[in-house]
Amino acid sequence: MKHYKIAVLAGDGIGPEITREALKVLKLIEERNDVSFELMPAAFGACAYFATGDAFPQATIDICDQADAILKGPIGLSHEESKKIPIDKQPERGALLPMRRRYNTYANFRPVSLPKALAHFSPLKAEIIGEGIDLVIVRELVGGLYFGQKESGINEQGLRYVKETLEYDELQIRRIMHQAFKLASKRRKLLHNIHKSNVLKSSVLWNEVMEEVAVEYPDVTVYNMLVDSAATALCLNPTQFDVMVMENMFGDILSDQGGGILGSLGLMPSACIGDDKAYYEPSHGSAPDIAGKNIANPYSMIGSVAMMLENSFDMADEAKNVWAAMQAVFSDGYSTADLSKAGSGVTMISTEQFGDKVVEKLKAMPKVS
Ligand code: IPM
Ligand code: MG
Repeated sequence: MKHYKIAVLAGDGIGPEITREALKVLKLIEERNDVSFELMPAAFGACAYFATGDAFPQATIDICDQADAILKGPIGLSHEESKKIPIDKQPERGALLPMRRRYNTYANFRPVSLPKALAHFSPLKAEIIGEGIDLVIVRELVGGLYFGQKESGINEQGLRYVKETLEYDELQIRRIMHQAFKLASKRRKLLHNIHKSNVLKSSVLWNEVMEEVAVEYPDVTVYNMLVDSAATALCLNPTQFDVMVMENMFGDILSDQGGGILGSLGLMPSACIGDDKAYYEPSHGSAPDIAGKNIANPYSMIGSVAMMLENSFDMADEAKNVWAAMQAVFSDGYSTADLSKAGSGVTMISTEQFGDKVVEKLKAMPKVS
């Protein structure tokens, strides 16, 4: 029997309630496969800061170091609450970015998937959605403006100033390109390379390295698209895309737009992969306004479990079943109050009921081996 250790970081806001549902799914996966999961819960985010003075405390680091994979819930506080924590200790700067840096999780995969069963959530017209949207944003996650040198102070004119650096070396670009091309090879063999080379020198190097890597993947067709134009294209013609690759900041922004065209960031799970360690997390924040109300949809967290099964535990078939189980719950006409308005024709269920229904659907699916 295979045995895996999973660090479980439930996070802040809606994190604990959606994580609870994701763990129900994991438990069932364990029951129906020759696999066991050792869950190692640990504090991470604002909750950890208030308990220990550190958003990514040493005890949590130790647990994550030992884990085969990390399942992480959303973190953070409202804008006002955040101000109660010193800037560098806030959950984003004090926990999330250090985690990405520590495990060098340079490849962030963010599927933007809108099968027919979910189409009613989207603000896009039916003719734009067509047969459904199914693309993956591959975002470089440990370089660029996020991790470049920062400086601030008073300049020669006596004005407050700030400077942040966008830096990439060719190795950082090459490794994310390989990830994107490999994924494209397994899918529709289409890669949209998103850049801003009409202005940024960083994009000129980005594109140069992309062309060098492309030679190794002759069956993948590459389209180059400026990032601003990609933002429009995502709204007007999203089905043209299959795999999109981009640097860190562009990926942060366009992946939220991906959530927008789906109708909610709550439909956006993600995988953050490094050479030695991977962690899985929803792409959204902790939604403090609806925390504890049992109305947040756990899709992004359960989807993150599916991505973990596929990428960290070599269980691609069970991952597919998990996706299908969630879609089946939506197809049956159920939804949660964060995704749907009362009177929109769906039967409203709670976070917990959604998780239970996914488990029921998954139970009914044939076991894989
Ligand atoms: C994301 C989030 C993070 C980011 C924040 C929470 C630091 O927006 O994962 O997209 O900007 O990368
Ligand atoms: Mg973001």
